[in-house]
Amino acid sequence: MRKTVMRPDELVVDIAFPSPPPGTRSAFYKLGLRKAQAISVVNAAIVLQMDEGVVQTANITLGSVAPTVIHAPEAERSLVGKTLEEEVIERAAALAAEEASPIDDLRGSAAYRRHMLKVGVRRTLQRLAEGREREAMPEHPVTLWGGEPPRAGKAPAACEHPATGVIETTINGRSYRFTSGFDKSLLRLLREEAGLIGTKEGCAEGECGACTVFLDGVAVMSCLVPAPRAHGAEIVTVEGLAQDGALHPIQQAFIEEGAVQCGYCTPGFLMSGAKLLEERPTPRREEILEGLTGNLCRCTGYYKIISAVERAAELG
Ligand SMILES: Cc1cc2nc3c(=O)[nH]c(=O)nc-3n(C[C@H](O)[C@H](O)[C@H](O)COP(=O)(O)OP(=O)(O)OC[C@H]3O[C@@H](n4cnc5c(N)ncnc54)[C@H](O)[C@@H]3O)c2cc1C
Ligand code: FES
Ligand code: FES
Repeated sequence: MRKTVMRPDELVVDIAFPSPPPGTRSAFYKLGLRKAQAISVVNAAIVLQMDEGVVQTANITLGSVAPTVIHAPEAERSLVGKTLEEEVIERAAALAAEEASPIDDLRGSAAYRRHMLKVGVRRTLQRLAEGREREAMPEHPVTLWGGEPPRAGKAPAACEHPATGVIETTINGRSYRFTSGFDKSLLRLLREEAGLIGTKEGCAEGECGACTVFLDGVAVMSCLVPAPRAHGAEIVTVEGLAQDGALHPIQQAFIEEGAVQCGYCTPGFLMSGAKLLEERPTPRREEILEGLTGNLCRCTGYYKIISAVERAAELG
């Protein structure tokens, strides 16, 4: 069971981080079984306060290698007052690996984690030493927000929903009024209360993307959204992709390319693909991979799905 320090009637409404002072350099390392939406095998966040190449303060936090995220105080101390020379980096990486207490689990063994932690901390410090910390960051990442960030005017103002209220919402252009299902996920509201069973449940915990729908124009995993969030919202499900009897280009392309085997993942891929094409009408291959990274398929091997998105861009 996941645990939290919050009481049942508490909700986090704001988190504030002070701006880092001048001279702050930072980088994050994550090793996961896939690039996005995967719980880390190992991760490390490093924040250094530098003055003319000399480390003034160091923060090294390590994730997935202890019961909670931990600091690596010995490694941090070893960096203070030093320049990021090779042997300084090597020593800090070794200390960080010693300070972790990883376990064996389905994502990796303790020994592998400890080894990769050392590798990761060393590489991250090298990136900082060489000023390469922004290297792997895409300039214009695919968001599946349909272009604009939701907070740049697309999302409606937050609205309250009393526990005994009614959920009034629009799904695929049609008005719905729900008097039950308030304690469900949006996925279960759609399937069980609205009878829209095109949206699938794969994992029910945000891993597989089979439940992807559009909520106020943004692709979301509906298994992670509380049903009352639908109140006052505009939702599009896979049943709403075709317009006036004509398939959406992404649906047509999936048929033409044979991008379906068992089909269970297909509604989620169609929704992510449609939102990607809205955001990038002629996506590059890397953008397609990025856009579909939250969707898992156990049958096809992905090649035909990627071809289908390329074909859909041609169909326009
Ligand atoms: C597949 C997956 C893999 C992940 N991997 C990692 C990882 O490797 N490392 C990492 O650091 N993080 C990871 N995360 C993210 C981490 O789990 C989340 O960042 C964190 O749990 C989210 O906290 P939050 O409070 O922002 O959650 P939210 O998702 O906002 O909410 C969490 C809970 O609150 C409920 N809730 C949301 N809004 C409301 C509301 N308005 N009123 C009442 N209840 C509400 C939700 O239903 C949910 O139960 C992963 C998440 C997923 C889905
Ligand atoms: S069912 Fe929602 S992500 Fe898997
Ligand atoms: S076609 Fe079977 S999971 Fe994707």
